Amino acid sequence: MPPPLLHRRCPELADSLPFLRLGGAPTPVRRLPGLAERAELWVKDESGYGDGGWGGNKVRKLEWLLPEARRRGARTILTVGGLGTNWGLAAARYAREAGLAVALGLIDHPVDEHVRAQLDRLRASGATLHFLRTKTRLVLAAPWLFLRHAHGRTLPYYLPAGGSSPLGTLGAVEIALELGAQVAAGELPEPTWLVTAVGSGGTAAGLALGLGLAGLRTRVLGIVVNDTLRLDSPAVLGLARRSTALLRRRGADPDLTGPAPDAIRTETAWLGDGYARPSTAGDRALARARARSGLILERTYTAKALAALLDLDAAGRLDGGPVVFLQTHGPR
Ligand SMILES: Cc1ncc(COP(=O)(O)O)c(C=O)c1O
Repeated sequence: MPPPLLHRRCPELADSLPFLRLGGAPTPVRRLPGLAERAELWVKDESGYGDGGWGGNKVRKLEWLLPEARRRGARTILTVGGLGTNWGLAAARYAREAGLAVALGLIDHPVDEHVRAQLDRLRASGATLHFLRTKTRLVLAAPWLFLRHAHGRTLPYYLPAGGSSPLGTLGAVEIALELGAQVAAGELPEPTWLVTAVGSGGTAAGLALGLGLAGLRTRVLGIVVNDTLRLDSPAVLGLARRSTALLRRRGADPDLTGPAPDAIRTETAWLGDGYARPSTAGDRALARARARSGLILERTYTAKALAALLDLDAAGRLDGGPVVFLQTHGPR
């Protein structure tokens, strides 16, 4: 399994920042003709990343988080999410393989067929589920959750929603470094924008940091799909800066620079009625992507992100392109 590109870019991190490869890299890039009106559109396809095509962007975060949990001597990962959490399911699945237990604090979330199926998978995943309903109850239950999942004096390793801690964010740094290598190899032209859904911010933050490290001028266009967290561009940039600080603390070159202030633009106009509530624009983009390019999206994240991309392109707001869409949805 190839080492992460981050270790090649910053060899001084090879020992201090452990990595566990969980998928086949690099993920492919390909053109998507006939979908966007103006810009040349490409996709970097994360859907097959992970075990037997079981993945999406979560697996990239776990490649850094699971070895860190072991490094800390933790036996359990404690994390949180909505009832249909993709993140919680990926964490449960891959942590178990790494010999770690998972405890999940769940809050309510609109329930549709997809969420019901996710819940069945979560129940079968071996994770301990705590149905806490609201954010307030989750916060109040936190001390109890830590003690309940402690092993002797070792507390569980806590990870925020979506795995978007400064360390988890490095997962998307790796995606951006791969894209940089693919541009350098002539597989695609340097994009003006790399477009992604923003659910907890780690993916957009890591992409911005990684694009800078890769020496690309490409900017991140983050389509915010979650209105339960603060996810404007200063917040996402702040996360990218905390990841940069983490790299420096672990021994990276002190001159390593974080992303430029304009590295991320966020858009909130494609949120529709809110997090996990499908939108008409998203559903239209989902149908169009399936018919014209065979790209399979889901309704909470990727459909809304592609809808925004197509609308902004049609309005001439993507600087002519080329534009890369990050396919973060992995079939289960
Ligand atoms: C399919 C999919 N795409 C995109 C995202 C957004 O990534 P992030 O949470 O890092 O913002 C998520 C998770 O939140 C997701 O499940």
